[in-house]
Amino acid sequence: MLKRTHKMNEINDSTVEKTVIINGWVDRIRNLGGIMFMWIRDRYGLVQVIFDPNESVYEQSKCISAEYVVAIKGTVRKRPQDARNPKLASGNVEILVKELEVLSEAKTPPIYTNRQEGNEEARLKYRYLDLRHPSLQQNLIFRHELTQQTRKYLSSLDFLEIETPYLTKSTPEGARDFLVPSRLKKGNFYALPQSPQIFKQLLMISGFDRYYQIVRCFRDENLRADRQPEFTQIDLEMSFVEQADVQNVINGLIKELYENLMNLDVGEIQSMSYSEAMERYGSDKPDTRFSMELHDLTQKVSELDMKFLSPSENEALKFVVVPAGNGFSRKTLDSYVESAKLENLRLGWVKMSNGDFSGGVSKIFKNTNMLKLKDGEIALVCAGKSSKVNEFLGKIRTNLSKELDLIPKNSVKILWIVDFPMFEWNDDENRYQAQHHPFTMPYVEDLEKYPNNLDRIRAHAYDLVINGWELGSGSVRIHRKSLQEKVFKLIGLSETEARERFGFFLEAFEYGAPPHAGFAIGIDRLVAIMRGAQSLRDVIAFPKTTSGTDLMANAPSKISEEQLKELGIRLEVDK
Ligand code: AMO
Repeated sequence: MLKRTHKMNEINDSTVEKTVIINGWVDRIRNLGGIMFMWIRDRYGLVQVIFDPNESVYEQSKCISAEYVVAIKGTVRKRPQDARNPKLASGNVEILVKELEVLSEAKTPPIYTNRQEGNEEARLKYRYLDLRHPSLQQNLIFRHELTQQTRKYLSSLDFLEIETPYLTKSTPEGARDFLVPSRLKKGNFYALPQSPQIFKQLLMISGFDRYYQIVRCFRDENLRADRQPEFTQIDLEMSFVEQADVQNVINGLIKELYENLMNLDVGEIQSMSYSEAMERYGSDKPDTRFSMELHDLTQKVSELDMKFLSPSENEALKFVVVPAGNGFSRKTLDSYVESAKLENLRLGWVKMSNGDFSGGVSKIFKNTNMLKLKDGEIALVCAGKSSKVNEFLGKIRTNLSKELDLIPKNSVKILWIVDFPMFEWNDDENRYQAQHHPFTMPYVEDLEKYPNNLDRIRAHAYDLVINGWELGSGSVRIHRKSLQEKVFKLIGLSETEARERFGFFLEAFEYGAPPHAGFAIGIDRLVAIMRGAQSLRDVIAFPKTTSGTDLMANAPSKISEEQLKELGIRLEVDK
């Protein structure tokens, strides 16, 4: 085989007149009046090669097609001035081919390899071909650099990279588990970890002090553009620390990654409480790249002559101002009103045009200066249960930011959201559950103050939010068994259940557990945001579809009778 002497990015002015060998894929072929031009591609770039009819190799070039794998030996020469291509790193030069060796032939590919177009399903089915596209390759190269920098940064701060098991027991993140049947212990199942939460806390109890891992997590949940059933975390845990120490480590990491990989100074990372985020943005992951904040009129209700909006004690009256209201049809506004009704909320709108108010609730606000609308703006006024009003207006805010193009390009807003509620009500199960996970340290003073009002208990839990995406989550952990048991009790976990699920873990607290805290960043999300990708699929080599399938390998798939028998499993579903 003609073994390569140069990669494509090494073919440039410095190799002119040298004889070189390149190996790669045929990207494009053009036959211009007898002279054959080809672009040869590898991971490093593209190089133009030329087959001259006067050279004996010319005849051989005629049987080459796109995506053949070739080895080419030739002489590098300068391109004529008017044929230079500044877009290519090798654009000043070309290779005059002397020898050609076909390393592998290729059928016509079923998808484009140099254009990201075409049917998404076909692209996932032939993912190995789609991955030939430079933009996907760049995403994965970027991801590699990001993990390398992360490892370097964390090891420089004494973090140890320690692996934890994949075949394990259910972890506490609260999604559905992926289960793996055991052959040796028939009728028993491993669960794939939703995160290494328990193991990293055990490592603290073992004395490792600072742990990290770039680790795969598995969650059987409904998928969206920002969710995959298996995804990767930068997971870490620290002993003898408080919340601020963990945040400092994460701030340093994010700043360094943005600086080194994007050449961008993200500035100081601000912090906002969960309740402020909900009040001002109607979201616990607010996108603060644009304002359109929620305004509160609840205290002013008595000044309004209202029938339609009648907040009682637990209710709120709030509004958002839509800047480009002129583009809104009556139909769109009516559809908002209808969807508010579905949430048990009351929504009205007021439009200001040419100094005049119009719209369903305009009379109520006519003689007040409460809405402070400018010409062309619309206020969407919402009343109902306070938390629902916030959520509803928050969703409208997010949807409109895209529809009305309110987000400035290339801006990055990173924010800590802190003091999350410890508990949230689970309607389906009719009980409270831990909002982060049950190992999170509650505010002990809240527990004492509101023993009968779990809604009011805050947690030492913190999220990192970038441009409206939840990038990571963490908390200070409980390190005393009695408090852990109390939290289990508050979320309705009986002693027996707690022992069954987390017995080994609870026992570990009896042997000296240091105060500890930690965090986990979703790498797929971080890379997607940094690369401006629309979906996590664009930054994962072999992703799943939204229905959790791998179209290329055709997984999940049926297994044979023998395999089932070996596992002691009989299927009830149709085979
Ligand atoms: P949490 O469950 O909040 O916390 O997860 C942390 C981060 O992981 C990412 N993430 C996901 N990314 C892609 N697809 C998914 N399905 C998915 N689910 C979560 C998000 C999220 O912010 N053990 C705790 C962390 C801790 O307390 O230290 C945990 O896993 O970016």
